Amino acid sequence: MALYSEKVMDHFRNPRNVGVIEDADGVGEVGNAVCGDIMKIYLKIENNTVSDVKFETFGCGSAIASSSMATELIKGKPLEQALQLTNRAVTEALDGLPAHKLHCSVLAQEAIRAAVKDYYDKCGIRYDPKDFADCDSHEGCHGE
Ligand code: FES
Repeated sequence: MALYSEKVMDHFRNPRNVGVIEDADGVGEVGNAVCGDIMKIYLKIENNTVSDVKFETFGCGSAIASSSMATELIKGKPLEQALQLTNRAVTEALDGLPAHKLHCSVLAQEAIRAAVKDYYDKCGIRYDPKDFADCDSHEGCHGE
């Protein structure tokens, strides 16, 4: 069996939503201290909905595929839904990732959460800091 699914290869070769949103409402940048990969997510929010999303990922193919799939999964969706996106959902949508590449999908989950937190901070929207204890939009999440 191939190591990577066709979906992973497709999103790696033809990543969706690559780029920058200059006037983004929320930006989240996270990195993995072990592999050194970095992911940045830009969100445009309208009526509490993700009206646009873009990403820049300096990382492995699985990180690029995870970013691409994650942006597709939250585009046009309510902010709460974006916040609840798990790396498991990203991995399932990609038809799986090898075990040693699961952390790449975690980066996507964390980058989106960091971008939403940044949006909340900029707009003065109250939230429970405990919900973001693992994640800071400026320093990034450095867990495996
Ligand atoms: Fe680190 Fe993929 S190897 S994000």
